[in-house]
Amino acid sequence: MIVENQYLDELLNIFDNNHKNYVVDRTASQRMPVVVYVKDEEPVGYGVVYIGKDFCEQEEYPITIEEAKDNSVYIWQLVTKQGFENQGIATSIVRYITEKYKDNDIYVSVNINNYASMKCQCKCGFIPIKAFEQNGKTHIILKKEQVIEN
Ligand SMILES: CC(C)(COP(=O)(O)OP(=O)(O)OC[C@H]1O[C@@H](n2cnc3c(N)ncnc32)[C@H](O)[C@@H]1OP(=O)(O)O)[C@@H](O)C(=O)NCCC(=O)NCCS
Repeated sequence: MIVENQYLDELLNIFDNNHKNYVVDRTASQRMPVVVYVKDEEPVGYGVVYIGKDFCEQEEYPITIEEAKDNSVYIWQLVTKQGFENQGIATSIVRYITEKYKDNDIYVSVNINNYASMKCQCKCGFIPIKAFEQNGKTHIILKKEQVIEN
């Protein structure tokens, strides 16, 4: 089951146990809209959403996405609780976000070595559009375009 903006304290514990250097903003889930995956009444994964075209600036990335629209959605953070990986939880969260924000362009930044996250985003229809280096690491910005109804 997916809920929004609930279990906020528990999300900090999930972050602390599982961030593995790929996510660094501990309090993101307390400050921004959050999508929480709940299994047997326990939160076991979450995604944090930021809305705005200045997400690269906010993340202090050394690039900008010129084409980004004002209502761009950016997946600020995506985390699955330790012990619950590889069960499709992150994929379900990303699918929920892409369905909820199907009228917006959606972006995400992934460390090139983060195989599970890269696979999850690509499976959900994201396409790599830009690469950049920061602190000796290579990151890829991926984008899923808004759905245009005929
Ligand atoms: C990245 C992360 C969110 C993926 O969560 P998850 O719930 O395990 O993801 P899913 O189960 O939806 O799996 C997505 C794909 O990655 C694969 N995968 C997941 N964990 C894997 C692992 N440890 N090794 C290899 N492949 C893995 C899955 O098999 C799946 O591919 P498939 O559909 O072809 O089977 C999770 O590993 C995590 O919290 N990592 C630390 C934080 C992080 O890196 N966040 C992302 C920042 S952009």
